[in-house]
Amino acid sequence: MQQAVKVVGIGGSSRPGSTAEQGLRVVLAEAARLGADVSLVGGAELVMPLYDPRAVSLSPEAHRMLAAITAADGVVLASPAYHGTLSGLLKNALDYTEELRDDSRPYLTGRAVGCLSVGQGWQGAVTTLGALRDVVHALRGWSTPLGVAMNSLSAGFTATGECDDPHIQRQLTAMAGQVVDFAEAHRALRATALRA
Ligand SMILES: Cc1cc2nc3c(=O)[nH]c(=O)nc-3n(C[C@H](O)[C@H](O)[C@H](O)COP(=O)(O)O)c2cc1C
Repeated sequence: MQQAVKVVGIGGSSRPGSTAEQGLRVVLAEAARLGADVSLVGGAELVMPLYDPRAVSLSPEAHRMLAAITAADGVVLASPAYHGTLSGLLKNALDYTEELRDDSRPYLTGRAVGCLSVGQGWQGAVTTLGALRDVVHALRGWSTPLGVAMNSLSAGFTATGECDDPHIQRQLTAMAGQVVDFAEAHRALRATALRA
């Protein structure tokens, strides 16, 4: 039997229970339902020193996130809109992927990446989603066709963790499906290439 694909969710904000992290949990729950082995690197775990390419050692948080990315077949990124783009917290954490430049799959190479942005309004949510997808491309990841922009003024999460806007809930679960589908297809492709 094929091993479950691994999907890591990275994001949120320094606020425990942030809207972005709640959205991330919906995507991961759906990915798990579809058979993926999921893990979360939430807002609190993204608090790392400003990335310095000359640093000789990394914090435990940076090590853990990089190990999760290295093992992952799929990634989900979630950020609040901060002044029109992704938060410095998430961008700094993603800058640490520079440490993966010499890996066999450098940066986010070969991984499906779903992106979720949350703004207090649509303009910031949409520009942040675009910025997240630009970062994914720069890191050589495969951005899923569907990305999700959410407006926290018009949608939130229920006590049981679902989005109270059924349309956004459907988008979050559909995006999870795209991450898992691509992750499975890409893993099968790699296995075929290794056998050839
Ligand atoms: C520093 C800062 C900058 C923000 N900039 C924007 C922005 O440019 N556009 C926007 O829609 N919301 C902006 N917001 C609001 C957040 O995006 C919004 O509160 C967040 O997505 C939801 O908060 P939560 O994830 O902590 O629940 C900003 C919030 C902060 C703290």
